[in-house]
Amino acid sequence: MNRLMDPINEARGRAGFPEVRGRRLRRTEPMRTMVRETILRPADLVYPLFITEGDNVRREVSSMPGVAQLSIDRLIEEVGTIAELGIPAILLFGIPDEKDAVGTGAYAPDGIVQRATRELKARYSDLLVITDVCLCEYTNHGHCGLLHGTDVDNDASLDLQAQTAISHVEAGADIVAPSNMMDGTVGVIRRALDNNGYETTPIMAYSAKYASGFYGPFRDAAASAPSFGDRRSYQMDPANGREALREVALDVAEGADIVMVKPALAYLDVIARVRASVDLPVAAYNVSGEYAMVKAAAANGWLDERRIVTEILTGIKRAGADIILTYHAKDLARWLREG
Ligand code: PBG
Repeated sequence: MNRLMDPINEARGRAGFPEVRGRRLRRTEPMRTMVRETILRPADLVYPLFITEGDNVRREVSSMPGVAQLSIDRLIEEVGTIAELGIPAILLFGIPDEKDAVGTGAYAPDGIVQRATRELKARYSDLLVITDVCLCEYTNHGHCGLLHGTDVDNDASLDLQAQTAISHVEAGADIVAPSNMMDGTVGVIRRALDNNGYETTPIMAYSAKYASGFYGPFRDAAASAPSFGDRRSYQMDPANGREALREVALDVAEGADIVMVKPALAYLDVIARVRASVDLPVAAYNVSGEYAMVKAAAANGWLDERRIVTEILTGIKRAGADIILTYHAKDLARWLREG
């Protein structure tokens, strides 16, 4: 209630300063801790990983310091560290050796993500393996669906997205995350999972995914830049907020279990509006370009990395995200442990 309108406080004459002093609760660390509204936990985090063919490969991504493409054996090692830090979930992206027009590697039973998932689940049964469901890393044109001329053909792409999701779940994926932004993709995947006996597997939908310049470093990491054109005919216009609510409502109606906003930092208002519009868990993807900016500034000594990362991720959670997908996950989990 507005203090000025509050009859009890009116009667006490406590309309504002000097009786009211915000600084009383900021005086000491125990006081600040007691009234802190937003607290980050390792359990909030998902760590994205890039898997590549070969043995003993660790190829650093130059635009994402600390992030590397890993072969499956090195991935297994890395996931040991991640699990040990209390991070409950990873998100897998595959980089196949071969690409073709129809993205065969995306839904191949022995594709890179499928093999990595099997190996991981055999060793870390409690780890949540989330898989990105999209064709762009597997098509030679780099678009997220099938081409018809130079158009991405929505309906013709849906069955392949569903096949991709099924092949991931058959390999042991705990959650599938369609990021392709085809209309109807969540519903088609939900039905396919249900018809194949996977009715208990959740879908984390990239519901409000914007056509963003902040994906630049990711496209180096995953070798998935479109060979012509851009993704604006399927990803959202950064200018639109209401449209995000419409996309979210459609994904919820189609059976999404978790809805995502991506990127995060330039879209905190969208996270807050989505949080207010649904009662499902909301995820936010703190994407590659957001990570790269912080890393570059920190490397130059322009910003204090620990402080900035904590502030950014706290802001994303405060805006309404329950789950944060971030390349800073390992660092944050370590800092939280240090206290
Ligand atoms: C596409 C996909 C992208 C990201 C996740 N899934 C890139 C794109 O749409 O071009 C970006 C993630 C990031 O930038 O960290 N399947």
